[in-house]
Amino acid sequence: MERGFLGRIAGLALAVTMPLAALAGGDKPLYTVEDGNKVDAATYNGFKVWRAAACDRCHGPNQEGLVGPSLIDSLKVLTRDDFSKVLTEGRMAKGMPAWNTNKKVMENLDDLYAYLKGRSDGAITSAKVKLMK
Ligand code: HEC
Repeated sequence: MERGFLGRIAGLALAVTMPLAALAGGDKPLYTVEDGNKVDAATYNGFKVWRAAACDRCHGPNQEGLVGPSLIDSLKVLTRDDFSKVLTEGRMAKGMPAWNTNKKVMENLDDLYAYLKGRSDGAITSAKVKLMK
């Protein structure tokens, strides 16, 4: 049998059995998701902040981009520090507002990042999420 085929099967089995939690460094997962749309409380809070700030006006309801870029793509390359910097300072000249005067966004950057990273990783398969029970 072809070796690549076996490798693919093994990879698939691994992907299915691995818990869908991304580690943020240390033991605490960045986010936890079940069934693609049920998330932990912090990630759920990130979703609520996304909604409240209406980031979807520019980045699209599914984060796939509109006048602003796709955050599904962006968060594959943006570091956590880049994320904070662009949210805090904005890129006014290019149409990204600064959020430094928005308390809700500034105080919940970790949760917002967790939610968007989960979307970008493909672990959170639906933009609309529910709180995990
Ligand atoms: C008025 C439109 C608008 C809104 C509202 C907006 N953005 Fe943006 N955003 C943009 C544009 C345009 C860019 C691209 C700037 C550039 O070209 O560098 C951008 C860039 C970004 C980037 C950097 C992407 C990259 O690849 O470097 C992130 C992250 C981001 N936005 C997140 C958010 C979040 C989170 C919110 C809600 C709190 C938000 N944006 C709200 C327009 C918007």
